[in-house]
Amino acid sequence: MCGIVGYIGPNQAAPFLIEGLTKLEYRGYDSAGIAVFDGKEINVEKSVGRLGILKKKIETASPNGHVGIGHTRWATHGRPSDVNSHPHTDCTGKFVVVHNGIIENYLHLKEKLIARGHVFSSETDTEVVAHLVEEYYEGDFEAAVRKVLAEIEGSYALVFMTEHDPDKIICTKQDNPLVIGLGNGENFIASDIPAIINRTRKTYILSDGEMAIVTKDSVWVMNRQGVPVTKKVFEVNWDAEAAEKGGYEHFMIKEIYEQPKAIRETMSGRLAKDNSTILFDELKWTQGEVAAINKIAIVACGTAYHAGIVGKYYLENLARIPVEVDLASEFRYRSPLIDDKTMVIVISQSGETLDTLAGLKEAKRLGAKTLAITNVVGSSIAREADNVIYTWAGPEIAVASTKAYTTQLVTLCMLAIYMAGLRETLPPARIQELIGGLRNLPAQAHEILEDVEPIKTFAQQYGFNEDVFFIGRALDYCVALEGSLKLKEISYIHAEAYAAGELKHGTLALIIEGVPVIALATQPDVYEKMLSNIKEVKARDAVVIGIAMKGDDHIHNYVDHTIHIPAAHKYLAPLLAVIPLQLLAYYAAITRGCDVDKPRNLAKSVTVE
Ligand code: G6P
Repeated sequence: MCGIVGYIGPNQAAPFLIEGLTKLEYRGYDSAGIAVFDGKEINVEKSVGRLGILKKKIETASPNGHVGIGHTRWATHGRPSDVNSHPHTDCTGKFVVVHNGIIENYLHLKEKLIARGHVFSSETDTEVVAHLVEEYYEGDFEAAVRKVLAEIEGSYALVFMTEHDPDKIICTKQDNPLVIGLGNGENFIASDIPAIINRTRKTYILSDGEMAIVTKDSVWVMNRQGVPVTKKVFEVNWDAEAAEKGGYEHFMIKEIYEQPKAIRETMSGRLAKDNSTILFDELKWTQGEVAAINKIAIVACGTAYHAGIVGKYYLENLARIPVEVDLASEFRYRSPLIDDKTMVIVISQSGETLDTLAGLKEAKRLGAKTLAITNVVGSSIAREADNVIYTWAGPEIAVASTKAYTTQLVTLCMLAIYMAGLRETLPPARIQELIGGLRNLPAQAHEILEDVEPIKTFAQQYGFNEDVFFIGRALDYCVALEGSLKLKEISYIHAEAYAAGELKHGTLALIIEGVPVIALATQPDVYEKMLSNIKEVKARDAVVIGIAMKGDDHIHNYVDHTIHIPAAHKYLAPLLAVIPLQLLAYYAAITRGCDVDKPRNLAKSVTVE
């Protein structure tokens, strides 16, 4: 994810900016840049690639000056390149800005600004912010920033600097972290604590909607209306390693907790305000083109493959197109029946998985139209596909995928609704109901994460069992597959997922007294049948943990323990039901003392066949 740093004080700014950005390297980035005011003007240096390239650039002529801001970018809008790197400037070069997050209404603002004569140099959403401050500046920097904030929609941590008022840095945030490090006659700004803990441990953690005016000797925090806010100093007592994980013990649990935000970002700017349609600016498909598609083939590996299976349900049920789902390693060796009427969708968090990339190339060779769903802008898969939808989940560091999965599901659901709209297969009321349901997801995911104690207890209770079974029907079966993969990859417990109706054709032989069975029962159409399957395993004395929606006060009569998820549309239940399973896997791995973030024998990105 992008990183932000800022400095104002008696020392040279550039060395701190580079040091701070280096501390944020672990978060992943594709380009970096700094802007420093030299007493006369602001000098910007930026470059695509590793920080080392930027360091080399400034080695010979390090920007001189005592106030500056810096950024490492992880591309979302616009590929990684020198011009798309931050800081961004206005037309005059007198205003600079760095930004984490997504400005949802940037296209609309950009059009307005272009009509007013502004000239843009990058493809980013961020650049509109720099031009907006220029547009609104009438001698009062703070007032101009306030006006900008009234115009922009989306999520952001923003830091502004200007030649007109060089003794201050203004920063603000909405749904993205921002901290101010309090020094002695100097102050620091950062998106994340690791960037500043070598310099100070006294911080102000900004809350959403707050704006801070930072000078070398003072920090004024206020709300957007300018009413002062009294901040408590937060003393950081984390060591450097804990700070990288935002105070969490592992990246995996941090990423599990990032899901509400990641899901929100994935939907950002893509849901019409009146819930009538999905807006995919990146897809310029016409009704005729979509009508011509007679089959979809989804190709992916691992967790992304599990997302693909859910995608089949969405696309078949909502857009009424036949869908087949293949493991990428199987797809290209089975002579798939693919032609120019087929749409091949490849799903890949990293965008680099070799089998998936090879599947994509094979699909292209056979003449299919191709679409990639990926998290990494400019990745090999993104470059190869005809069209790309980015999931905007932010970098995923833990080997076990969590937020990538939930954001892939959100993307697939949006895609199915989008295609249903073009194919006219869904009445408007159902589209509205689904989009309304999507909007609820971040808060519902958050609700699950607020009460993890019962899940922790189950993990401690059953974490030493050697076999665990996951059962479900329909979409619950798809989630069961992902739940069992999570458990086996990080806790090394033998876990199997079964379509509940299939149990009696073999796996039931393995169900004996005390074996834990996780039974998902969130799907109303097959609920009664699922209860019968639960009875089958209970009759063999299995210990059953049921996952059901809130309001289901029936299930506890059939199971030993129940985990409730918030009541959601049946198509959206997988996005919520998977979260307790991720947590169960995580706490089981902890109970067993496993290396959660780096499970044995596994890699985050598999670039071999
Ligand atoms: C590896 C990772 C999994 C991931 C799979 C596919 O096995 O450990 O978490 O699901 O690769 O990766 P991709 O980047 O293509 O989604």
